[in-house]
Amino acid sequence: MTSPLPPAVRPARAASVSDGATAARSAIRAKGLTRRFQSEDRVVEALRGIDLDVRVGEAVAVMGRSGAGKSTLLNLIGALDRGYGGELQVFGQEVRLLPDRALARFRNRQIGFVFQAFNLLPNLSVGDNILLPGSFGTDLDDVELRARARRLLGEMDLADRFDQRPMQMSGGERQRVAIARALLLEPPLLVCDEPTGSLDGHTARQILRVLQDIRTRFGTTLVLVTHDPSVAAMADRVVTLDRGLLLDPAATEAAP
Ligand SMILES: Nc1ncnc2c1ncn2[C@@H]1O[C@H](COP(=O)(O)OP(=O)(O)O)[C@@H](O)[C@H]1O
Ligand SMILES: [Mg+2]
Repeated sequence: MTSPLPPAVRPARAASVSDGATAARSAIRAKGLTRRFQSEDRVVEALRGIDLDVRVGEAVAVMGRSGAGKSTLLNLIGALDRGYGGELQVFGQEVRLLPDRALARFRNRQIGFVFQAFNLLPNLSVGDNILLPGSFGTDLDDVELRARARRLLGEMDLADRFDQRPMQMSGGERQRVAIARALLLEPPLLVCDEPTGSLDGHTARQILRVLQDIRTRFGTTLVLVTHDPSVAAMADRVVTLDRGLLLDPAATEAAP
């Protein structure tokens, strides 16, 4: 359904990496990764020691029951959360070591997010939602950003919807807007937390095709959480989380 993405939306190459050629091909490297949440009366060990390597350009699906720690893992990989133990490098950068502003900049340039609930801002137009990542610091000027936003919207088959509000759109349309927003700054890593979780089967397949298209054309590294085996089937590799641990021993092996 999408027209071919022009070269201008090719995701940027990963930012400089700190430790040589091996790291240059590694998008994500987690070692002994833990995440513990402490509320007043209890401690939840959401991740209990994850080893995971994801190569640049690889697509990895994360499956597992509700509460297994999938969103927790994705939030760490997406540099939304630094409160982990163990190691986590994204494009060679240890996430925990980034100070606040550097973290925000890193996230904005390197990582696109797509969530189950779309997370569009209802008071902004579709176009302004897509432009949001551009307002947190980029080298691109306004004219270029607007041109990109319009082009992305066109590629999502929503060319005439720039001035609409998200509320006027269907779930599948909103998710395409959210994907366009995630791609605005051409991040080399896209993380998607149950991107088709709120959509019917037909619409879910549409979204799947869009993600597949992005990935095959531009080699974007993709980590996506899903319950849907047909979504997981597009990935190079499926890993399964169970109560904070990865079940699949292949998770730490390099894919062929
Ligand atoms: N901010 C938080 N505070 C306290 N507990 C949390 C928080 N986020 C997640 N958890 C707990 O961590 C565990 C894993 O949650 P989550 O990663 O959301 O699971 P999944 O996405 O696989 O359904 C759950 O027990 C959840 O209640
Ligand atoms: Mg979740």
